[in-house]
Amino acid sequence: MHKVGFIFDLDGVIVDTAKYHYLAWKKLAEELNFDFTKEHNELFKGVSRKRCLDILLNLADATATEEQFDTWMVEKNRDYLAYIEKMDASEILPDVPKVLDFLKTNNIPIALGSASKNAQPILEKVNLLSYFDTIIDGNSVSKAKPDPEVFLIAAEKLDVAPKNCIVFEDAVAGIEAANAGNMTSIGIGDAKILQEADYNFNDFTEIDLDFLRKLAKV
Ligand code: BG6
Ligand code: MG
Repeated sequence: MHKVGFIFDLDGVIVDTAKYHYLAWKKLAEELNFDFTKEHNELFKGVSRKRCLDILLNLADATATEEQFDTWMVEKNRDYLAYIEKMDASEILPDVPKVLDFLKTNNIPIALGSASKNAQPILEKVNLLSYFDTIIDGNSVSKAKPDPEVFLIAAEKLDVAPKNCIVFEDAVAGIEAANAGNMTSIGIGDAKILQEADYNFNDFTEIDLDFLRKLAKV
């Protein structure tokens, strides 16, 4: 068993895809005559695609047959993928490679723990796939964050005890999931929103190598 393992959320931690989710949901919301704002989009962070559509329908006071629901899910994802298609390494958030390089150099296992079903193509697009020893995403889990399932599976695949896993997350549901899994949680973003995290940083530029050495026990 490895001493420690690092688990990264994708959207909002490694890449800023929230803006693309926002544009794709906004387009669908227009069909529902609903003015979808950036504030609404905050509610969608870390939340599965299906749950997002449930929330949107609720906000728009709309209902859908099962068939219509599925059609809208496909439509939203098609529009989202059109944005993803154009992504490249320039969209990696600042200093993410610094942290990943440090971990790789020190042979520390790295997992992705994301709610997205598009995680693999996004990592390919931004050229980071090779850093990850395992990818646990929306296709691998039955229970969404804040359930710890995604991170517990990641820990198992990395062969690291959950209490020795360190999770980077930008969503409240993700911090709750890491805490519920008995892992060390690191909030990336607004500390007031992510106040349940064990540590808080606005972004990876605030994380220095000494801090990583301490966490990684190297
Ligand atoms: C999460 C995002 O990472 O993935 C959510 O924060 C998104 O906003 C969820 O809804 C599911 O993503 P996808 O790519 O499967 O639609
Ligand atoms: Mg996220």
